Amino acid sequence: MNISQLLQQKFRDALVAIGAPENSPAPLSRSTRPEFGEYQFNGAMALAKVLRQKPRDIAEKIVEAVELEGIANQLEIAGPGFINIHLAPEWLARQLETAAQSSRLGIDTEQPKTVIVDYSSPNLAKEMHVGHLRTTIIGDAVVKALEFMGHNVIRQNHMGDWGTQFGMLLAHLNDKLQANQVAETALSDLEDFYREAKVRFDEEQGFADRAREYVVKLQGGDPQCMQLWQQFIDVSIAHSEEVYHKLNVSLTRKDIMGESAYNDDLANVVKELKDKGIAVEDQGAQVVFIQELADKEGNPAVYIVQKTGGGYLYSTTDLAAMRYRSFTLNADRNLILTDARQALHFKQTEIVGRKAGFIKPEQSYEHCPFGMMLGSDGKPFKTRSGGTVKLVELLDEAVERSAVLIASRVSDLDDVQREEIARKVGIGAVKYADLSKNRTTDYMFNWDSMLSFEGNTAPYLQYAYTRVQSIFRKAGIDSQQTHANIQLNEAQERLLAVKLLQYIEAINQVTAEATPHVLCSYLYDLASLFMSFYEACPILKDGIATQVKDSRLMLAALTGRTLKSGLELLGIEIMEKM
Ligand code: ARG
Repeated sequence: MNISQLLQQKFRDALVAIGAPENSPAPLSRSTRPEFGEYQFNGAMALAKVLRQKPRDIAEKIVEAVELEGIANQLEIAGPGFINIHLAPEWLARQLETAAQSSRLGIDTEQPKTVIVDYSSPNLAKEMHVGHLRTTIIGDAVVKALEFMGHNVIRQNHMGDWGTQFGMLLAHLNDKLQANQVAETALSDLEDFYREAKVRFDEEQGFADRAREYVVKLQGGDPQCMQLWQQFIDVSIAHSEEVYHKLNVSLTRKDIMGESAYNDDLANVVKELKDKGIAVEDQGAQVVFIQELADKEGNPAVYIVQKTGGGYLYSTTDLAAMRYRSFTLNADRNLILTDARQALHFKQTEIVGRKAGFIKPEQSYEHCPFGMMLGSDGKPFKTRSGGTVKLVELLDEAVERSAVLIASRVSDLDDVQREEIARKVGIGAVKYADLSKNRTTDYMFNWDSMLSFEGNTAPYLQYAYTRVQSIFRKAGIDSQQTHANIQLNEAQERLLAVKLLQYIEAINQVTAEATPHVLCSYLYDLASLFMSFYEACPILKDGIATQVKDSRLMLAALTGRTLKSGLELLGIEIMEKM
């Protein structure tokens, strides 16, 4: 249980004790200013009407009734009936000592749920571009946080490896192989390859017809065509894997469950929708009219599951995927991370899928949308010539830029160490800049701010971690072996202690809402509090009493461990020195 859950429980009991109706809301929030304590209970106001009493009188009764002996040392009523909770320093100290004993910082795992996370999911016809950055790294952070809490996470890389565009690509690949090229060379640059195929499709006599033949062959499972397709897919997957590796993302081949995997099930999906009367024929196509999403005139939204001529769509595949995840993988929760432009698609898919029973009522279907990455001009991020930016190139540039930065810092590191640090800082900066923004909004990509050592950035946090480590190096102590009693006499010590204990609250929010930025803000606050603690509360200076020194070392060690753990969940690498 985290602190806010514990307090909430105590206040719920108090509400029952003062005769409030069962299940009355028990709103609790973190205080915004230290003078108001650490938490605030705001449940008295809402009860005034129900209990026909003044909110402040109710607040007084709650304060009487709530059992926080030993946990809080002061409860004060403020304004119309807020209750400010000041936690007892001794209690905080004991909590932290317990946390320090455990390898998991005192965090208990939760009742495990099966959570499917559909993320990254690039289209294999092309190279991964910046549009896939957000889903890949936000998804990976969410996955790691869920696993940290003990959930059974099943990654699903729903790669776009099927569809009519492959006809043109396979025809072109076939010709290259006939001309004695090997697939790896022919496909070394997927963007160029795609462009060449498209030019031939548009201009070359007879090529478009051959491309269409390939589509038919592919759909019919023609062995030679399937082999060609497999070659294409393998090379393209290898390109994605290179990006995953550079990004320090946990996806592997095992996690790939591409669109092609559902191919054999698409006819069944449509049949079942027809049998249940959910899909109907309309101008030769099979469609679902969604009344729930009707426009102002009352015209229902039209959701096509099979085109005139028999072709299936993105939506048909997503319905098949939904059914597979619900009934074969037994998902409790389904998370899908794509950009916000697909929000309507998933809303419609959920409505149709629930009607069809492709997902059980108790299983969640959570589309987690995100905004776009914008250039400094406020427009979608592009190369100078207006093309899409390849992810690999962006990451290489990040490392180059960070190397220049690291080279300019005075330190006793050798070239190999510097190179390693430059990589961790560069990649960390790109990832963190993205992860730290609320995912639902667009954000502006800016090299200078993401690589800054000040502010809410990866370098700042990586640096904060090295600061902690340097204290232990100087003291000649292993930070992992530090065990002492904690005493919280100074304000900065208390603030840091409370923050450390709130780590789990941050993770709980990340897993519930798929919002890694909450963890980023948490780590940034923690690092900032540590810096001011370190300034105000000297540790290794002469004349500091041993007990005080040991207690402060404990706080430093816990800060280091929490930063390390949090950055690990975000997929940001750390170092001992920089
Ligand atoms: N391949 C799609 C794209 O690049 C994303 C797929 C997301 N997942 C899904 N189940 N539709 O936009």
